[in-house]
Amino acid sequence: MHNDIQAIMFTKQEIDQMVYSLAHNINNDYAGEEVVAIIIMKGSLMFAADLIRALTMNVKIDFMQVSSYGAGTESTGTIKIKKDSDIDLNGKNILIIEDIVDSGRTLALLRPTLEKRGAKSVKIATLLSKPDRRVVDVPVEYIGAEIPDEFVVGYGLDYDEKYRQMDYIGILKPEVYN
Ligand code: IMP
Ligand code: MG
Repeated sequence: MHNDIQAIMFTKQEIDQMVYSLAHNINNDYAGEEVVAIIIMKGSLMFAADLIRALTMNVKIDFMQVSSYGAGTESTGTIKIKKDSDIDLNGKNILIIEDIVDSGRTLALLRPTLEKRGAKSVKIATLLSKPDRRVVDVPVEYIGAEIPDEFVVGYGLDYDEKYRQMDYIGILKPEVYN
């Protein structure tokens, strides 16, 4: 285990099981349809790579990098799109792939942004969710696991761009970020 990690939250085997179970549900829901998977950079890199390989329908892949700012209420928040999708999303089934839903601000802004591009449907798959931290209500169709309010890293999740390469998810020691 990495020296900066306080405890392991999910082992590689537990992550594999979560991803497999999410893929099973997604495969059932979209049987016979085509999906455009929008991978939200950078944190969902590992999750998206594993999830998409377990999907059985036709999948197109694209990337977006976004952040929310102007904290406060839902209506005053703004989405900053650092990298946008190049695919024409009109009439498409969009599956947003996110690493973790925290306040919900990012997805609460991204979801309507993509809906306005004429998508047939927009759904969200996230590996992790912290329900206790939610500030803005946003529907999330596929959740790998709900976790308590702890800062976690690994399997794509970072602190200061580090720890993404770990194949497990661990709780970061608070002294690392305090
Ligand atoms: P929010 O839901 O708009 O607050 O933002 C969610 C984003 O915050 C995620 O996509 C992550 O990039 C980041 N984030 C939130 N909690 C954690 C965590 O525990 N570890 C690493 N990144 C996190
Ligand atoms: Mg991040």
